[in-house]
Amino acid sequence: MTADPTAPSTPRLSRERQLDMYRRATKTLPGGADSNFRAWGEDTIYVDRGKGGLVWDLDGNEYVDLRMGYGPVILGHGDDRVDDYVNERMRRGVSFSLTSEDEVRAMELVCELNGWVDMARMTVSGTEATMHAMRVARAFTGRTKIVKFEGQYHGVHDYALISVAPNNMAELGDQDNPVGLAWGRGIPEAVARTIIPARYNNVEFLRRLFEREGDDIAAIIVEPVLGNAQGIMPQPGFHQAMRALTEEFGILLIFDEVKTGFRFGRGGAAEYFGIRPDLATYAKAMGNGYPSAAFGGRREIMEMMPSKVSHGGTYAGNRVAAAAAVKTLEILRDTNALEVIEATGRHIQDGLREVLNPTGLPYQFTGHPSMFGIMFTDKVASEYRDWANTDHELYDAIAVGMHARGAMPEPDSREPWFVCEAHAGGDTVDRVITAFEDSLAAALEARSRGQLAKHDSGAMSQSAAG
Ligand SMILES: Cc1ncc(COP(=O)(O)O)c(C=O)c1O
Repeated sequence: MTADPTAPSTPRLSRERQLDMYRRATKTLPGGADSNFRAWGEDTIYVDRGKGGLVWDLDGNEYVDLRMGYGPVILGHGDDRVDDYVNERMRRGVSFSLTSEDEVRAMELVCELNGWVDMARMTVSGTEATMHAMRVARAFTGRTKIVKFEGQYHGVHDYALISVAPNNMAELGDQDNPVGLAWGRGIPEAVARTIIPARYNNVEFLRRLFEREGDDIAAIIVEPVLGNAQGIMPQPGFHQAMRALTEEFGILLIFDEVKTGFRFGRGGAAEYFGIRPDLATYAKAMGNGYPSAAFGGRREIMEMMPSKVSHGGTYAGNRVAAAAAVKTLEILRDTNALEVIEATGRHIQDGLREVLNPTGLPYQFTGHPSMFGIMFTDKVASEYRDWANTDHELYDAIAVGMHARGAMPEPDSREPWFVCEAHAGGDTVDRVITAFEDSLAAALEARSRGQLAKHDSGAMSQSAAG
């Protein structure tokens, strides 16, 4: 993600301390980071602190944060309402492997906000939530296979890392007969074979698949929008058709609301699209950045626990996560935070339109205003494979250039911009638009000189992971 150093108008960020930290970190942390997704070589960002919608790196560079930790920080960094509550509750002790009222309250709120959810249980991460949802679906139906969509990310357990994010679409196989592409080594073939990749927004594909293998399929797990591919939206009626098909074939529908939950609306994407899934997974916005997560759904399925299906975890429902969920969900329920976030997202999009329209570049906004992508294309994308046909090199160059101009989107066009409540104040939106405008101008200038910097999406590249 190196900004083009030859572009005269590219400002430089100071990076001395971060480079020192990178050299130090790589001695103990593979890649110098705790997640492949943040290991960006010498460009790895080491953070000092955040407040509201802003973040500062170790060298003191200040940015408007548009990553918001890949989505969880829905209110803003260091939100006093949440932090004070968590601090007060955690002084009573954090981990007992006993159940506290905070946990009960947190799951009551999950059920209250998502009216269709009868019962829920906490986990510590979205990964654990999707893993358990898949297991309980298998147990309930007595079937083994799970359908997932190409380009969707459901965490880092073995059953989730199939056909996620290759750069080269050919690796996904034939359009009508896609292959299950494991992301990286170490995933047993036998495990991978239980996951069937499908194509988003393609009902005919699903019908053919169900007619062929429906008796073996326990569930479809779906990010209601392609949250890990710029938030590509469902075509009108897609979710309704998928719901009807799953019911016809006795297959459970799992909404992975880790990104959309408590963001698209108080009742997440299920409410937004008017769908009643069978199970759902939540994390991210539910705890404003604390490690709160959950899976939940219909009573008769969730009641497979505790006697028939394994679910546990030393830290499941720990006080910090539970208290954070209680306070965050109360705020989202009782205030207009989500309306503010949506309005701010629209405000940013309006500003971007004013910059983009005069250029004549073809572009589309994808996703929801609280979590949106910018695709340089004149076609509305309907599935992950469409991403390859967009001008994502231009996007990546702009995103990288924005860092040097004080705004930080993810430097990979697959990740949407995340808006938080705190972005609404002051000159934040103007700063984002100016950073985008200047960075776009520099990227176009570099392209005209044939010097558009190539962004190496590194760890995000499924192709590179093998
Ligand atoms: C849709 C979705 N599901 C699951 C996960 C995994 O969550 P976690 O990173 O908390 O394990 C993510 C993470 O980005 C996600 O976006």
